[in-house]
Amino acid sequence: MSSAFELTYPKSQQPSVSSNQTLHPRLLQAPVVLKTSGVTKSYRKGKVEVPVLRGVDIEVVEGEFQAIVGASGSGKSTLLHLLATLDRPDSGEIYFEENRIDNLPAASRDILRNRYIGMIFQFYHLLPELTALENVLMPVMINHGIVSYMLQRRKFRKRAKELLDLVGLSHRLKHRPREMSGGEMQRVAIARSLMANPRLLLADEPTGNLDRSAGDEIMEIIHELNSNYDVTIVMVTHDMSIAARADRTVRLAEGRVESVSFQS
Ligand SMILES: Nc1ncnc2c1ncn2[C@@H]1O[C@H](COP(=O)(O)OP(=O)(O)O)[C@@H](O)[C@H]1O
Ligand SMILES: [Mg+2]
Repeated sequence: MSSAFELTYPKSQQPSVSSNQTLHPRLLQAPVVLKTSGVTKSYRKGKVEVPVLRGVDIEVVEGEFQAIVGASGSGKSTLLHLLATLDRPDSGEIYFEENRIDNLPAASRDILRNRYIGMIFQFYHLLPELTALENVLMPVMINHGIVSYMLQRRKFRKRAKELLDLVGLSHRLKHRPREMSGGEMQRVAIARSLMANPRLLLADEPTGNLDRSAGDEIMEIIHELNSNYDVTIVMVTHDMSIAARADRTVRLAEGRVESVSFQS
């Protein structure tokens, strides 16, 4: 990975430190980035309430790589959406660096998400008419507005190119999604997710639509982001070999945390 690339942010100052002694030693004194307490969520099917999350407590510390696993339909994506403030729990609380975030007004949640949280998905969600470079620039265009964006355009383009270089796509800057492989599209999505220098990267089955070798390459990039650039990662996955490399693996079953395992 290019070392010219900068992905640093001030370490958070809050005193809350994980008391979990089973985490990897490098994480033992790490502050808590994300915490949920008794989170519930139901969906309504006609007149019937279908409970999906029935009281989920998880904790993520700075620098951690956390995997969330569980059968299809166990609520993994629902939980990730709540963590990303894309949706709100019915009850329970979610904290981001000591600040309660589940009850913020929608506009504040948008700011929080755009500024501090990067996301990648199974199906990339790239805009088909835009080039790789333009897709990566999209978050800053949205965050800054067009006038401010245009004034700082050179700086943003430089960063976007560095990020595309980081994910090994310097030779694809002008390609559109239909001209790229799945693995390449996911690399663009990773670069885009890093554009705002997020504190937290949330990933929902990012290798789920890729063949083994493309998936392995994406996993290498994600692991390097965690180990070389200290990006905190929460990743939903089906793949137990991926989960086996995580610092902590949370298994959901029937809307609750069934088990938590650690790698030390
Ligand atoms: N927007 C929605 N409306 C109604 N039901 C939903 C919605 N999203 C998810 N569900 C249901 O909630 C359950 C959990 O879904 P999901 O969180 O996507 O599971 P997972 O990601 O673990 O496969 C599933 O039974 C699914 O059908
Ligand atoms: Mg899912």
